[in-house]
Amino acid sequence: MQKIEAIIRPEKLQTVKAALDDLHHGGMTLTEVRGHGVQRGITEQWRGRSFAVEYLTKVKIELVVNDADVDTVIDRIVEAARTGEVGDGKIFVSAITRAIRIRTGERDEAAL
Ligand SMILES: Nc1ncnc2c1ncn2[C@@H]1O[C@H](COP(=O)(O)OP(=O)(O)O)[C@@H](O)[C@H]1O
Ligand SMILES: [Mg+2]
Repeated sequence: MQKIEAIIRPEKLQTVKAALDDLHHGGMTLTEVRGHGVQRGITEQWRGRSFAVEYLTKVKIELVVNDADVDTVIDRIVEAARTGEVGDGKIFVSAITRAIRIRTGERDEAAL
């Protein structure tokens, strides 16, 4: 099992969710987050003036998936979330050692 954490543009959330619909039937966690990448809060243009935004609002999607599904999920997210502009976000993948569905006591892949 692996956890895929994708930090994406909030306006891409519905597109990303739709891209995962037929593939990922398990649960997912969404968090509104704020952060910056290498541009450190890019200077934005607003009404003809530019100003620095230190932390930009993003959405973090977390999903724990079977090992066999990891690469497909990543490909789908990249394709759906990408605009080609700075700030498209990032995906982190980490190993998950245990999962337990509290209601039933199911373990590991059966618990996803
Ligand atoms: N190294 C990192 N560790 C944790 N979060 C990160 C990291 N890099 C980026 N993020 C998160 O991803 C969001 C989007 O980053 P982005 O600007 O697309 O990355 P970059 O500028 O590095 O290409 C950031 O606002 C931040 O929340
Ligand atoms: Mg950036």
